[in-house]
Amino acid sequence: MSRIAVVPGSFDPVTLGHLDVIARAADLYDTLHVVVVHNPSKSALIPVDQRVMLIEKAIHAAGLPNNIVVASWSEGLLVDYCTQVGAKVVIKGIRNQADVTYETPMALVNRNLAGIETLFMLPEPGHAYVSSSLVRQVAALGGDVRPYVPHVVAEHLDAHSG
Ligand code: PNS
Repeated sequence: MSRIAVVPGSFDPVTLGHLDVIARAADLYDTLHVVVVHNPSKSALIPVDQRVMLIEKAIHAAGLPNNIVVASWSEGLLVDYCTQVGAKVVIKGIRNQADVTYETPMALVNRNLAGIETLFMLPEPGHAYVSSSLVRQVAALGGDVRPYVPHVVAEHLDAHSG
């Protein structure tokens, strides 16, 4: 049986921490779906289709394996996407206790809704303080985001700033 997992997120933008988790998860499963979830209640910096494109380019540039599918989902529950693609597992990166607190209710709801299990994965400690919101803030104020994001993302933010 093919083992399929989903790494969901806003990825606004994808960071080196995300990419680290994606690489580790892709090693463990036959197919890994990286899913940009559109959250209508969050105002986004980067449109969803461009977030998907940036993740695809970053995965390619990092030489990650070709068992990774990048997609977007705006049609409701994440578990519906998981069921549609035959995934029984969601993987989320955990940087600190705050992430555990934030992720735990979602993980339990996803299990109650559809029996989808969530596995928490530790990224490389060097990425532990990196978040998309921090990157957005640094970019908005003209700072250098290159230590935190894939090269293509830094270029994209550079080209679209100001
Ligand atoms: O990167 P984020 O913003 O922390 O990711 C959160 C995300 C998108 C994974 C979460 O909000 C989500 O799964 N949204 C889809 C809607 C859904 O299924 N909600 C119910 C269970 S949380």
